[in-house]
Amino acid sequence: MVSPDLAMDFKKCCLQNDLAFINNSYLCISLFLEYMVHLTHRPRRNRKSAVIRDLVQETQVTVNDLIFPLFLIDGKNKKSEVNSMPGIFRLSPDLMLKEIEECMKLGIKTFDIFPSLTDKYKDKKATESLNKKGLYLSTLREIKKKFPEAVIMTDVAMDPYSSDGHDGLVKNGEILNDETLEILAKMAVAQAEAGADIIGPSDMMDGRVGFIREALDEEGFTNVSIMSYTAKYASAFYGPFRDALDSAPKFGDKKTYQMNPGNSKEALIEADLDFMEGADFLMVKPALSYLDIIKLLNDNFNIPIAAYNVSGEYAMVKAAAAKGWIDGDRVRDEILLSMKRAGASVILTYFAKEFAKSIK
Ligand code: PBG
Repeated sequence: MVSPDLAMDFKKCCLQNDLAFINNSYLCISLFLEYMVHLTHRPRRNRKSAVIRDLVQETQVTVNDLIFPLFLIDGKNKKSEVNSMPGIFRLSPDLMLKEIEECMKLGIKTFDIFPSLTDKYKDKKATESLNKKGLYLSTLREIKKKFPEAVIMTDVAMDPYSSDGHDGLVKNGEILNDETLEILAKMAVAQAEAGADIIGPSDMMDGRVGFIREALDEEGFTNVSIMSYTAKYASAFYGPFRDALDSAPKFGDKKTYQMNPGNSKEALIEADLDFMEGADFLMVKPALSYLDIIKLLNDNFNIPIAAYNVSGEYAMVKAAAAKGWIDGDRVRDEILLSMKRAGASVILTYFAKEFAKSIK
C-alpha cells in the first residue's frame, strides 16, 4: 500500500515540475504502479466479457414491453406508406388483420389503432367516431373477433374525426373543455363496445379520465383499462403522425391543452389528477426528450408508466440512418433502452415490429 508520506512526496515532485521531478520520475512510476495494483474497485471487471456484461445488465427491453401503433385506412388490399415515416404504412382492414397476425407471431401482442379518415367523414363534433358501422369501430370488432388474445388499445380524442383538426370541440376559436368531455366519454364507450381492452385518452382535456371511467363503469365496462396520456406535451415531434392521419390543426396550435415543454412540476399535477380519477397507466409523450418526466412519474407513482416513442423520434432515426450517418438499428435499441431505464414499463413505438424481428 502507498504510505501517505510517499504519496505527498509524489505530489510534490509533480508540482515542482523541475529537476526534482525528473530525478524522481522512476519513483513516481513505481508508486503509480503500486497504487494501481491495489485498486479495490475496478468497475471494468464487470465489463470484461459479453457474458458478464449480460449477467449484470440492469435493464432489458423485451417485446412484452411494446405496443405497436397502427394506422387504419378505408378500402381493400390498400397500403400507403407514410412519407415521413419510412416502413410505416396506413393499412386497409384486411391488411391490418394480416399485419397483426404477423406481429403476433413475432411476439407483439398489444396494438394501438388510429384511424385515418378523408375529409368527408369529418365534422365539428367528430360524429363519425360514434359510427358503429364506420371504419374504426367495425375494424376493431373484426380484430378482436379474429385475435381475442391480442390486447387492443384505442385512441380517444376528436382530431382524426374533427374538421377543425383539434382534440376538442371548437367554438369561436376556443377549445371547449367540459363540452368535449361528453363526446370523449361516448367515444370511449363505443370503443369499449367494439372490444377495446385499453382506452387511451390523448386529448388533454381536464377531468377526462374520471369522466370516461364513470361512463365506462356505468355501461358495465369495469374491466376496460385507461392508459391516460398524462403528460402530453405540445410538441413538434408529432409532425409525421399528423401527416399519417392528415389531422393537423386547421388553425392555431394545441398549446392551450397540451403541456408546455418547459414544465415538469405540472406533470405531477396531471399525474395526481389522472391517478385519482382512476387511470391504470400514466403515459409520458413524447418520450426521448422527456426521460426526466418518465423518471419523475415513476419515482412518484406506483402504477405502470408508459412512454410514447412518437412519430418524429422514429422519423429522425430513419432519416439519419438512410443517410448512413448513424447505425439505425443500434440507435433504435439504445433509445428504447433509455426509455425503459428511465422508468417506463410500457413503450409505444413504431419500431416494435422491426425490434421484434431483430431479436428473433
Ligand atoms: C392525437 C394524437 C397525436 C398523437 C397521438 N394521438 C397527435 C397530436 O396530439 O397532435 C401523436 C403520436 C405520434 O406523434 O406518434 N390526439
